[in-house]
Amino acid sequence: MYLTKDEEKILDGEHGEVMERMFRLLARLGDIYGADQMIPVGSVQVAGVSYKSIGDPGMEFLEDMASKGTKVKVLTFLNPAGMDLENWKKLGFPKEFAKNQLQIMQSFKEMGIIITSTCTPYLAGNLPRFREHIAWSESSAVSFSNSVIGARTNREGGPSALAAGICGKTPNYGLHLWQERQPNVRVDVSARLEFSSDFGALGYYVGKQVKNKIPYFTGIKDADTDQLKALGAAMAASGAVALYHVEGLTPEADLVEKKGLETISIGEKELKDTYEKLNTGKNPDIVILGCPHASLREISLVAQQIEGKHLKKPLWICTSRMMKEAADRMGFTDTIEKAGGHVVGDTCMVVSPIEQMGYKTTGVNSGKAANYLPGFCKQEVVFANIYYLLEGQQ
Ligand code: F3S
Repeated sequence: MYLTKDEEKILDGEHGEVMERMFRLLARLGDIYGADQMIPVGSVQVAGVSYKSIGDPGMEFLEDMASKGTKVKVLTFLNPAGMDLENWKKLGFPKEFAKNQLQIMQSFKEMGIIITSTCTPYLAGNLPRFREHIAWSESSAVSFSNSVIGARTNREGGPSALAAGICGKTPNYGLHLWQERQPNVRVDVSARLEFSSDFGALGYYVGKQVKNKIPYFTGIKDADTDQLKALGAAMAASGAVALYHVEGLTPEADLVEKKGLETISIGEKELKDTYEKLNTGKNPDIVILGCPHASLREISLVAQQIEGKHLKKPLWICTSRMMKEAADRMGFTDTIEKAGGHVVGDTCMVVSPIEQMGYKTTGVNSGKAANYLPGFCKQEVVFANIYYLLEGQQ
């Protein structure tokens, strides 16, 4: 890989030990994947934030980095943490867990990283532009930024994203290159898609089929950004889809080459079978919405649905701190809390320790959450649309 004189100096240690280590990691990745050069990135999103995921070794690594005066060079956001950073006590998060999580956040803050913990940074102050090179790591955020926005990122690991933030660069390979963004399978959808959960089920099914290919969807007549985020999140979870195109909806769909692709078809039967497969439990102990993190539109919909009601079981809507503050200001949070639910900031059902909090069966409308909850959180899952789940709570 071509390196500038300045980049060679970094590898020679002239910019300090941390820069050298971080840049070496990026250079090695570039060599493995055949990158021609390093390119500057406009922003970074770092995964590996929850104490549940990174444990003591991760916490100590970050403390060490921060204590050496390491700082990021570009706008860097974080993936969800393991708890609501402000209301963790009220929500019943364990004290010891909270202490460690707060230490992790402190280390990130000392490095100049914005401690906004969300998988929807594009809704919360980190919106890339079309064709901007970025280095993000949470798989649904990667999928959304590549597919719906048309920005360019590989699916970074936690360490490579952190290194990109510190160096301000990433190796130029994979989805940074136009020729690597071409679809290699056509997905023809005839199933009726109404709810976000339908998009989640579709994404789950397609991810299983296509693994890490780039699908080109036809037959999806309309979808709002919440539905597209549900689709991409599920495909990235059940497969490893980091980019998809939707005819007539996503910005690169008209520009890519579509001739001669193998085709898979999805009708009502495939969608129904997917719902059945994802439902492993009955009668949720808790319903958790907001995977990926809820938008204001999704929070306001929940508030409308449960206004004046009394929920029988706990309800969380996970979102970013920014969305929560807007929801507080609009009175949505108040409406939801009066009904017995919570708008939970900074975390989500998968990276928080819900199994330690006594929950065994979780209701979700997200294909991604339904995919991960059994393995990561030992949960049985009720997977359904939002109206069905909220109805069951009343
Ligand atoms: Fe986001 Fe957690 Fe879902 S990180 S995409 S809410 S599993």
